[in-house]
Amino acid sequence: MGERTTPDSSATQRADELRAELRRHEHLYYVLDAPEISDAAYDALMNELKRIEAAHPELVTPDSPTQRVGGKPAEGFRKVAHSRPMLSLDNAYSAEELAAWEAHCRELAGPLPVEYVTELKMDGLSVALRYEATEAGGARFTTGITRGDGQTGEDVTTNIRTIRSVPLTIPAEKLRELHLPPAFEVRGEAVMPEAAFLRLNEEREQQGLAPAVNPRNAAAGTLRTLEPSIVANRRLDFYAYFLLVEGDYWPQGQRATLDALAALGFRVNSQRKLVASVEEMTCFIDAAEASRATLPYEIDGVVLKVDSHTTQQRLGSTGRAPRWAIAYKFTARSGITQLNAITVQVGRTGKLTPVAELTPVFIGGTTVSRATLHNADFIERLGLKLGDWVRVERGGDVIPKVVEVLEDAEHRRGEAAFVFPSVCPECQSAVVRAEGEVDFRCVNADCPAKLRETLLHFASRGVMNIEGLGEAVVQQLADRGLVRSVAGLYTLTEEQLTSLDRFAEKSARALLTEIKNSKRAGLARVLMGLGIRFVGERTAELLAEEFGSIEALEAATAEELERVEEVGPRISQAILEFFAQPANLALIQSLKDAGVNMTAEKKQRSAHLAGLTFVLTGTLPTLTREEAKTRIEAAGGKTAAAVSKKTSYVVAGEEAGSKLDKARELKVPVVDEAWLLALLTAKPATQ
Ligand code: IVH
Repeated sequence: MGERTTPDSSATQRADELRAELRRHEHLYYVLDAPEISDAAYDALMNELKRIEAAHPELVTPDSPTQRVGGKPAEGFRKVAHSRPMLSLDNAYSAEELAAWEAHCRELAGPLPVEYVTELKMDGLSVALRYEATEAGGARFTTGITRGDGQTGEDVTTNIRTIRSVPLTIPAEKLRELHLPPAFEVRGEAVMPEAAFLRLNEEREQQGLAPAVNPRNAAAGTLRTLEPSIVANRRLDFYAYFLLVEGDYWPQGQRATLDALAALGFRVNSQRKLVASVEEMTCFIDAAEASRATLPYEIDGVVLKVDSHTTQQRLGSTGRAPRWAIAYKFTARSGITQLNAITVQVGRTGKLTPVAELTPVFIGGTTVSRATLHNADFIERLGLKLGDWVRVERGGDVIPKVVEVLEDAEHRRGEAAFVFPSVCPECQSAVVRAEGEVDFRCVNADCPAKLRETLLHFASRGVMNIEGLGEAVVQQLADRGLVRSVAGLYTLTEEQLTSLDRFAEKSARALLTEIKNSKRAGLARVLMGLGIRFVGERTAELLAEEFGSIEALEAATAEELERVEEVGPRISQAILEFFAQPANLALIQSLKDAGVNMTAEKKQRSAHLAGLTFVLTGTLPTLTREEAKTRIEAAGGKTAAAVSKKTSYVVAGEEAGSKLDKARELKVPVVDEAWLLALLTAKPATQ
C-alpha cells in the first residue's frame, strides 16, 4: 500500500487520465467486444489507479472504475417504486397472430404509415437504471432496480455496478451532443451469458449443489445475491432497450432511441432492424432463430415494436402490456428422455395433477427433470408406461410437457402401467371425478396439500407479495397446525415462527413485517389471493375498480358483475358460488378482523353519455374509429355498426357513405367530430 500524502495536482491529473482511459477500454472490451489492449495492459492501468487512490483516498470518486465492487455485502434489498410501471409484453406464437397484431396496430394508428423495429428477445430479467446529474453537468448511475411486480422493484444498485457494460458516468459533452438532460432512466435486460452460466454450474457441481436450471434464473438469483464480489464474478451483462426522459425528448422513435443508447455507451443488441411489413418481420424472426445456437446468450423470441413514439402514444397500453409491442416466441424445442416415475401433486383446488419424473435432459438452455401429464385421460391417450422413452417439449410456457411416447426400434417400451390413485396422496381421503370433468379432486376441505398450495398462492409475488413465505416455511406452518387458513398468517407470533426449523429471530421479524405490510395490498390482490375460480389478475383489478369494496362485490348480482369488462356468465357464476359458501364469508371476516384492507379506489365512471347510441362513419379528422369508440364507451355511451331508428347520432367524417343517406332518411341527427369532442368533454350533468 502506498503511503498517504497530500495529493498534488499531478496525482489528481493522472488519476483523471487513468479513469478516462480505463473507461474507454471498458467500453471497447465489454460493450463493443473490440479491445485495443491486452488484459495485462488493462490490469497495469487499473493497478496504477488503485495505487494513486490508496495513497490519496480523497481522490476516490464513486464512479471510478476501481469502485465497481462496492465491497460491502448488502443487508437486504430496499423496495423502490418505479418512475413509470414496468410493463410486460403480450405474446404471439404464430405468423397469423403476428399479422393480426400488425393489422391492429395499423388500424389504431390511423392514416399514418407504421414502421416497426425488430429486436431479439433476450432471456434475462428487466431492470431499470437511474442516472442523475453530476456537478460537472454529466450523468451518474445512482440506482438499479429490478422489475419486481412492475410497480415496485428492489434496489440492486451495488450489484448492477459490477456489470462492466453499465456505464457508471456519462460525460456532459455526450449528453449535450444528444440533447439529453442529465437525469434519465435506462431500461433493459440483465442476462447471464452462456459461458458464465456453464462456469457457474461447473462450480456448483463441484460444491455438490444442484445446478441452476437456466441462465435467466441464474441471472435473477445473482442480482439478488447479497455479496457484490460474488456478483462481480458471475459476469452478468446488460443490454439497453429503453430510455425514459421527463418531458419531450428528440428521438422520434425506438430506432433512434437504440442508437442514442449506444452513443451513450450502453450495450445495445446489434441485431435490430427497421421493417414495414409482416414479411420482413418473419424474415428477421427466421434469421434470429437460425442464429440462436451461435449467440453467446439465450434468446426466446423476437420483440417487435412500433417505431414512432407518437404512434406508440396513440396506441397506448392495456394494464399489463403496451399495444405497440409484441413478443414473438419461438416454437417449442424438444428433447428425448426416459420416464422413471409418475408422482401426483395436489393443487390449491384439490385437483390432482400427475407429474412425469424424468431422467434430466437439457432442452433449450434448461435442464428438465419433471413435466406435467395434465390428467389421467392424458396418460391414457399417450399410452404411457413407466420406463417409456418420451419426447418432452418446452413451449411458450415454462412448464415442460410430455408430447409423445417413442415406439421405434431404438427405444424399448416400458412395462409397468400407471394406476391413478383412488385416494389423495396427501391426506388419503377418497378422490372424486365430477360428472363431465377430466380431473380428479381431493374433496377433503382440510387436506394439508390444499392448505399449503393456498398459502403459497396467497403469498406469491403479484398476489399478496409476502416475501420469505416459501415452501419450507409453509410446509411447517401447515404441518404444525400453526396456520389453518390464509387469515391465520395474520395472527402468527414471533415465538411461533422462531420455533420452526432453521428460523432465526431476524428472519422471523422480517417475515412478520412482510405479512403486516401485505395488509395494505388492496382489494384486487386480496381477490386474487382468495383463489376464486377464473379470477386472475386482470379480472380482479377490473372488479376492484368497479365495486371498490369486498362488501359491494359480495352484494353484486350476476347482471351487475357481468357489466364489468371481461366478466361473462362463467366468471360471474364462480364469483356468486364463492360468496355463497359460509366458510368463505367467515374467511373474509377473519381477514377483515386482522385489518386486511379490502377496498380499492373506485374508477370514476362518467356516464353522461348513457342511453345514447352513436354510429361512426367516414374518416374523422383526428380520432381513429377505435379511439372514438373507446371514448364514447368510457363516457357511458354505446356505438353501433348500422344506422337504425334507435341511433341517437351519426358522427360523420370525410367520405362518409351510405350510412349518411340512411341517417337522413331516418332523420337521425348527423354531427361532426368537433361536436362529439365537445360532448365528450362537457361537464357531466350528474356524477
Ligand atoms: S420491451 C413495455 N425489449 O421480455 C415493454 N423486452 O416478455 C417491455 N425482453 O419484461 C419490454 N428482450 O424482460 C423488451 N428487446 C426487448 C426484450 C425484452 C427481452 C424481456 C423483458 C420483458 C419480457 C416480456
